[in-house]
Amino acid sequence: ETVEWEAASYDMGGHDTYMHKEISEQPDAVDRVLRGRIDDRFSTVHLGGLNLDAREARTIRRIKILGCGTSYHAGLIGAGLIESMARIPADAEPASEFRYRNPVVDPDTLYIAVSQSGETYDVLAAVQELKRKGARVLGVVNVVGSAIAREADGGVYVHAGPEVCVVSTKCFTNTVTAFALLALHLGRIRDLSVTDGKRIIEGLRKLPSQIEEILKTEEQIKEIAAEYAGAQSMMFIGRVRGYPVALEASLKLKEISYIHAEAYPASELKHGPLALIEPALPTVAIVPDDDLLEKNRAALEEIKARSGRILAVAHQPQPKADHTIVVPKNEDELDPILMGIPLQLLAYHTALAMGRDIDKPRNLAKSVTVE
Ligand code: AGP
Repeated sequence: ETVEWEAASYDMGGHDTYMHKEISEQPDAVDRVLRGRIDDRFSTVHLGGLNLDAREARTIRRIKILGCGTSYHAGLIGAGLIESMARIPADAEPASEFRYRNPVVDPDTLYIAVSQSGETYDVLAAVQELKRKGARVLGVVNVVGSAIAREADGGVYVHAGPEVCVVSTKCFTNTVTAFALLALHLGRIRDLSVTDGKRIIEGLRKLPSQIEEILKTEEQIKEIAAEYAGAQSMMFIGRVRGYPVALEASLKLKEISYIHAEAYPASELKHGPLALIEPALPTVAIVPDDDLLEKNRAALEEIKARSGRILAVAHQPQPKADHTIVVPKNEDELDPILMGIPLQLLAYHTALAMGRDIDKPRNLAKSVTVE
């Protein structure tokens, strides 16, 4: 059983596919998730529906984020944002795995369910089980009034607007941005300084125009995609903040092009997958200009030494890469929000070059409302 969007009721706005329309909408979508929430006076954000007062927020000992697919990947980035800004131990897990392993439900843990549709059965069932055991569950959800939003004790709406294409793009970006807001909010209640709060707010405000900049690289990405369209398989690598970006980019490529893709932490390459590297297996590397830059560059050297082709997504051209898509630099914490966007376009143009049905990939439904 699946929930069908009434696709015809949403205007394509001059785009050939909903996916392209939704990728292009991201500057506005991100503007919407920020709107009305920033509080410059206290260098924080207001999240009206959280139902979590400051005293309660200070007692949280852990955060566990649950979602499926793209929403799980957004949750992985969210966990990193919460740990770095609020210094609360946080991790993400696929909701389906969580519910089948009889998890220890801890009263000091805050649970967060992530879902575009708000109807994904595995996520809903995890939320219901958590509630039954007395846990506090927040939702980070796009569809207002959906089952998960209703079931949760409170939460943050993602405000991406309707997403029609089966593969999620703008909702991923907005969900990660919503997590940045939540992390800032929790951080400012705990130990994040005013100076850091201001720095993050300035970074958040830059996002819509920086996404506009990234969208201008589409022609370059289209040319690169034409080169990779024949590949049997592709490798995606990233480190710490970049790893969930690699996971999501690899999922996007698989879903719509049907090219096999794998995502690995760059640090794990030498523990096995390096054996796969050869000219026929291109690698896409997430290489932000942060304290891990030199480590990431070392991974590129290892790949180049084995004649692997490399596409880097980076803040400056990478000498070891065959191509670099240069994206604008934001604050280190917020870079992952931007670095996935060119790879949505890469998946799109690769699938287009291969003649795939982009908005309705085979075997997939927009919303998985069964077990
Ligand atoms: C995204 O491109 C996928 N089609 C899929 O992984 C999706 O993110 C997943 O099924 C979860 O959906 P939800 O966000 O509506 O809960």
